[in-house]
Amino acid sequence: MDYVTLGRTGLRVSVAGLGCGGFSRLGLGRGKSETEAVALIHQALDLGVNLFDTAAAYGTEAVLGKALKGIPREEVVIATKAPFNVSNPNASAESAVDSLDSSLRQLATDYIDIYQLHGVAPAAYDHARESIAPALLKEQAKGKFRHLGITETAPHDPEHNMLQRAAADGLWDVAMVGFHMMHQNARDTVFPLTREHRVGTLLMFAVRNIFSRPGQLAATMRELAAGDEVPQWLAETEDPLGFLIHEGGAGSVIDAAYRFVRHEPGVDVVVVLFGTGDPDHLRTNLASLLAPPLPEADRARLASLFGHLVGVGLDAPHLARRARHWGP
Ligand SMILES: NC(=O)c1ccc[n+]([C@@H]2O[C@H](COP(=O)([O-])OP(=O)(O)OC[C@H]3O[C@@H](n4cnc5c(N)ncnc54)[C@H](OP(=O)(O)O)[C@@H]3O)[C@@H](O)[C@H]2O)c1
Repeated sequence: MDYVTLGRTGLRVSVAGLGCGGFSRLGLGRGKSETEAVALIHQALDLGVNLFDTAAAYGTEAVLGKALKGIPREEVVIATKAPFNVSNPNASAESAVDSLDSSLRQLATDYIDIYQLHGVAPAAYDHARESIAPALLKEQAKGKFRHLGITETAPHDPEHNMLQRAAADGLWDVAMVGFHMMHQNARDTVFPLTREHRVGTLLMFAVRNIFSRPGQLAATMRELAAGDEVPQWLAETEDPLGFLIHEGGAGSVIDAAYRFVRHEPGVDVVVVLFGTGDPDHLRTNLASLLAPPLPEADRARLASLFGHLVGVGLDAPHLARRARHWGP
């Protein structure tokens, strides 16, 4: 495993962080058992992963706490989140503090390393900053968590408007941002700010459904080509990103997807979250995240074909049926 310092938090973290949410939720979202989820977390620990990202909303805090029981607390970095998303943008400061206390109980820990507001929409940012953050900072002073963070709601804010404010605010030590091969706009809109302000950056949506569900990529290409947003030839093949797979290049589209985000320039302060409930996927994804960058010619081709797209493939569990292009 490779380790980096997560921006100004100073935390030493693995470059790959196990996401305990998404569609997989450690496998629980796909019908696997808690025992299997615990085994998956232990497998990740054995392979050197030390950062785990969960949330009150995922229903995986307790299983993470159970899996980490017996592991010296300082050897792991636990990130979790207060429910504060598009469905409850006016959540009160008291409810965020209650949620923090509940997370501590669920995780069976004395402190959380990174406590984040979950999925803050641009219109809710002022409330998050003026009302919720001050209340949470009082709890931080009591030792309940170490660093305050914020995550964007990628499907509702594909242009990263919220994070463009938050990254420069000095309040949030960690930011979570959506970034992948066909949604690259954080390169220009967010990463310069997170680098300048040394905000620890967690990347989400590297693979999601668009690169993992059979047929979804080809269907998305057809839709984009119909709107003249990608060249027509990409709509005429069932394997539109096949050009990435060759000797010296990626071994699969998913391998390419993780290597692409991992080696984004400035990536030394970035951790890639990957979500899975499958032990084989966990192993191969870590191998991808530790592999060299994609060949420069492939990176350049991805930038020229897709660098202008905004918001492709940002499906959320409750929005899955609407998964499509959100950009102009
Ligand atoms: N706003 C927010 O705060 C927010 C939003 C989204 C995500 N997140 C965080 O980011 C984490 C990662 O996001 P994500 O879950 O979307 O992760 P992801 O790594 O982009 O995508 C994971 C999806 O791809 C599948 N997959 C992974 N590896 C695979 C492989 N090798 N072969 C085939 N399929 C594979 C997984 O299914 P399998 O289980 O079958 O592997 C899962 O459905 C989340 O768990 C969460 O912690 C936060």
